[in-house]
Amino acid sequence: MVITKDTKIADVILKNHNLIPIISRFGIKFGFGDKSIKQICDSYDINADFFLEIVNAFNDKDYLPYRKLREMPLNLTVNYLLKSHYYYNKIKLPFIENLISQLEWKGEDAEKNKSVLKKFFSQYRKEVNEHIINEEKEIYPYILETEKNFLNRNNLNPEFTEKLKTKSITDYADTHEELNSALLDLKNIIIKYLNPPENREITEQVLTEIFRLEKDMADHTELEDKVIVPVAAEMEKELKKQL
Ligand SMILES: [Fe+2]
Ligand SMILES: [Fe+2]
Repeated sequence: MVITKDTKIADVILKNHNLIPIISRFGIKFGFGDKSIKQICDSYDINADFFLEIVNAFNDKDYLPYRKLREMPLNLTVNYLLKSHYYYNKIKLPFIENLISQLEWKGEDAEKNKSVLKKFFSQYRKEVNEHIINEEKEIYPYILETEKNFLNRNNLNPEFTEKLKTKSITDYADTHEELNSALLDLKNIIIKYLNPPENREITEQVLTEIFRLEKDMADHTELEDKVIVPVAAEMEKELKKQL
């Protein structure tokens, strides 16, 4: 289903509960009655066109995504990505870490199993954190600066002109693959290699949460790789012609 401004927001969640964290990232709280997306977006001061592109892209793989997003101001997508970073770092990763700490094993390898898993998870968390810091301190600001200068290209900021001479958005090393493989290791340890923990329900919850996080991050990464980076790269290319 294509979600439109007139769709009731409750129906969106009833149809696809995977959108719950996406919607809450916009600051929208439950208890929306029969309000439509347009009404909710107006009351929360959210750009409804942007909201619709995000929920439709994440709701339906076949929705032709990103074309409209690429035409919108980049700071809308960047702001959304920043909220996702906050969600990973402050909410989801601590939540999974806490679940992992509740896993129990019997026998002499109990402590060893626990520490192996904790070590892998904290390594993964560290990698995510470094990735996020790099994006927030380097990549996103450069992208926004590129857009700002592009929109004002008859009057380029001299400092930015200097940066343009040496920098390029394509120089940024892509570490998304590394993050994926760290997450795959983590899943494999639980699914294939460790003795099964005693508390089966928590184990299932840990795995379910890891799979959810993986999907969420894949959507996040797509916005970076298919929206903000290529759009900024196009602008950068035009600006470099002016040098
Ligand atoms: Fe990111
Ligand atoms: Fe990223």
